[in-house]
Amino acid sequence: MRVLVIGGGAREHAIAYKLSQSPSLTKLFCAPGNAGIADLAECVDIKPEETDRLLDFALENKIDLTIVGPEAALVLGLVDKFQQNGLRIFGPNKKAAQLEGSKVFSKNFMQKYKIPTARYRTYSSFETAVADLQYFDLPIVIKVDGLAAGKGVIIAQSRQEAIEVIYDIISDKKFGSAGNTIVIEEFLQGREVSVLAFVDGNTMTPMVSAQDYKRALEGDKGLNTGGMGAVSPAFYYTSEAEETVALEIINKTMAALIAEGLNYKGVLYFGIMLTSEGPKVLEFNVRFGDPETEVILPRLKSDLLELFNLVVEGKLDTTEIEWSQETAVCVVMTSGGYPEEYQVGCEINGIEEAKEYAGTRFADGSLETAGGRVLVMSALGADANAARSKVYTSIGKISFQNQQFRTDIALK
Ligand code: AMP
Ligand code: GLY
Repeated sequence: MRVLVIGGGAREHAIAYKLSQSPSLTKLFCAPGNAGIADLAECVDIKPEETDRLLDFALENKIDLTIVGPEAALVLGLVDKFQQNGLRIFGPNKKAAQLEGSKVFSKNFMQKYKIPTARYRTYSSFETAVADLQYFDLPIVIKVDGLAAGKGVIIAQSRQEAIEVIYDIISDKKFGSAGNTIVIEEFLQGREVSVLAFVDGNTMTPMVSAQDYKRALEGDKGLNTGGMGAVSPAFYYTSEAEETVALEIINKTMAALIAEGLNYKGVLYFGIMLTSEGPKVLEFNVRFGDPETEVILPRLKSDLLELFNLVVEGKLDTTEIEWSQETAVCVVMTSGGYPEEYQVGCEINGIEEAKEYAGTRFADGSLETAGGRVLVMSALGADANAARSKVYTSIGKISFQNQQFRTDIALK
């Protein structure tokens, strides 16, 4: 099969790495790819948002299957466009992608089908939102409706702060039209777990769990980031929680997708809070998570390309997905200053040890930093400590100016 992966981060590198092990693969392309992916695939200089160019490329190059990594292309309707042209593609259609593209859509979906989630209201008027703040306990969670590159959730510690946040979003248009509507919701307390599932239109099969370390600094302090590391399985995901998630979240969501006629195919990601009242959904993502994918896929023993095909064909129920019992850990190396200001163009040394790359580029034959999150190192071990020590040994061999990483990933 000739396969095209869309995206250019460590997540797509992890996907490309697994695909490259499939006996059915004859040729792998990645758009745009990155320096690490270039070892496994032919990189094509097209961005995920350039949907017409991607379509032309797939038609011209007789692509048998396309896998979409990032949400932006899905929300733009890339899948619909490919399907209208008779191309096979892994990912949800535009309407189904609203589960990530619109917080209002996803909250209303959960409420309608009684999928456990935080209590909420939606607002498009500054005055109405502010008048209702009295009904919410502190802290208050405010969410921008549309896509906001991971910056659209604000947790206000006081009502005054909440008023300022609502002003910035609705009146001052800090997030543009993505903030025309907001969700205000109850703050949930507990441990977070990421549960990703393959969905083929009728069947939903969960993958092994993962835990994402989102804060920039050790001890889960500092600013929220795109993820500083991950571990699979998640530490606090007991078999009891897993059973409840299967019954109350996975099964109900599958039934709801069918009832809404969304024909969801691809990966659905559940961000879950394990609360004292049971697991509740924080958010949906309509794609593989990053960096969760870099710890989940290394544990996959089944053929990933075959799984993608079964999803597209609606035959997920004909297979049993096999997973390794080992623990996987990944740690993200970032540019100093991330997620705020940082410098790029620093030479990276000792890269041979790296397993996954993100935000890198080749320049004059050497490898340079090109973004905030630079490299993701991932390893399997008999337990978290064994996997951690492999990851940190490999990180110790890599160096670039102002490098930064957390030393407490997967430390209980
Ligand atoms: P989201 O983009 O909805 O996942 O939100 C990003 C992060 O904000 C989540 O991973 C949580 O850490 C936090 N968060 C979102 N909603 C809530 C909530 N209702 N209560 C507490 N934390 C939340
Ligand atoms: N790890 C969070 C995400 O992929 O959105």
